[in-house]
Amino acid sequence: MKILAIETSCDDTCAAVLDNDKVLSNVISSQTDLHAKWGGVVPDIAKRAHQSRINAVIAEALFRSNLAIFNFQFSKNKEEKIEQIISEGMKEIDVIGVTQGPGLAIALGIGVNKAKELAIKYNKKLVAVNHIEGHMWANFLKNKNGKPERKFELPALALTVSGGHTKIILINQNEECLISNDQFLKQNLEQNPPVSQSSTSSLKEGRKSFEQKLHYEVIGETLDDAAGEALDKAAKMLGLGYPGGPILERLAEGGDINFFDLPHPLADKKILDYSFSGLKTSFYYKVKDWPAEKIYQNLNNLAATFQNAVFETLLRKYKLAIAKYQPKLLLASGGVLANLELRKRLRKLAKEVNLPIFMPAHKNLNTDNAAMIGIVAYQKALRGEFVEDVEKLDRDPRLSF
Ligand code: KG4
Ligand code: ZN
Repeated sequence: MKILAIETSCDDTCAAVLDNDKVLSNVISSQTDLHAKWGGVVPDIAKRAHQSRINAVIAEALFRSNLAIFNFQFSKNKEEKIEQIISEGMKEIDVIGVTQGPGLAIALGIGVNKAKELAIKYNKKLVAVNHIEGHMWANFLKNKNGKPERKFELPALALTVSGGHTKIILINQNEECLISNDQFLKQNLEQNPPVSQSSTSSLKEGRKSFEQKLHYEVIGETLDDAAGEALDKAAKMLGLGYPGGPILERLAEGGDINFFDLPHPLADKKILDYSFSGLKTSFYYKVKDWPAEKIYQNLNNLAATFQNAVFETLLRKYKLAIAKYQPKLLLASGGVLANLELRKRLRKLAKEVNLPIFMPAHKNLNTDNAAMIGIVAYQKALRGEFVEDVEKLDRDPRLSF
């Protein structure tokens, strides 16, 4: 099954092409430079940037996937060339997947409208995808050669850590939806005849790995700021740029993680939820009266101390959740997983509890991207979960999980 996926939930304009769970292309047009001087994402700027970039990003994803053969002369006009690539590339696509939410409303709208437009124009099936589900499944994306092969086991405990959310999700079998393989395949092929010949075999092949509709339960989540958001805000307080996470990571190297004490939010061992806003406020009161010179001299220590407090909090609750739910597999993903220190600590934790842990296999799969939307679209397409009335599909900024 060939999937075109589109993601525009925040400040990255993304499109990807997948062959089942294999990534053929994954294009990310980052808007960081546009938002940096404002110290955060400005919705209107994001909307305009998505609008002006989306066609070129989709064309690039289709072109780089190498699915279509362009045996004609490209137009010299840029817009026309983009149109040519899209119309030729779309012939090879079976399904379109798009992020429906959660995210920034006006940014989501650009991707959703584009996906609808393409689905109608080229008569393709459309799948609506939850952004957080995308982050979770980024761990199972493969390259063109089918690597890495990762064994999925249930129950699994997923930690997703981003700029917009921080959640611990228990993934289990969905008893109600469990039907036999053959019965499912027969039903699905009858209801959704594949567009291309190869899709029949890929349906059978894919069914093996993503057999069932799973049951997701959010067992812990942030009650206020997300972990990435807290890192971004702390960096802003220190007069550093945006996004703050990677800047603090660089500064934290060699800094003292115990420069001063910060609170342990929701320390009660029975609570699996997170709270990062208290940490941020406490950090603010520690440094608010410091002269600029003192802050400057201690940037490494301040970055290390705040980052450490966020990561310790993340791991403390995750460890409690592991003890309580006894999963067979650990999954971690989301933008903050780009942080090497966090990855190291999670690997250490997995070793301690003697469990396998997966984190996105490529740097670009941590932060927002469309490949992760594509893999969820693939699974949903296998289960026949297509948008029934394409015209009516709407963005859902608060889409629940
Ligand atoms: O998943 P993502 O791209 O977007 C959301 O869905 O929110 O995550 C963005 C977040 C930002 O808060 C950013 O500061 C953080 O991920 N981030 C990092 C690193 N790279 C990105 N945080 C810590 N260390 C990093 N290297
Ligand atoms: Zn995200």
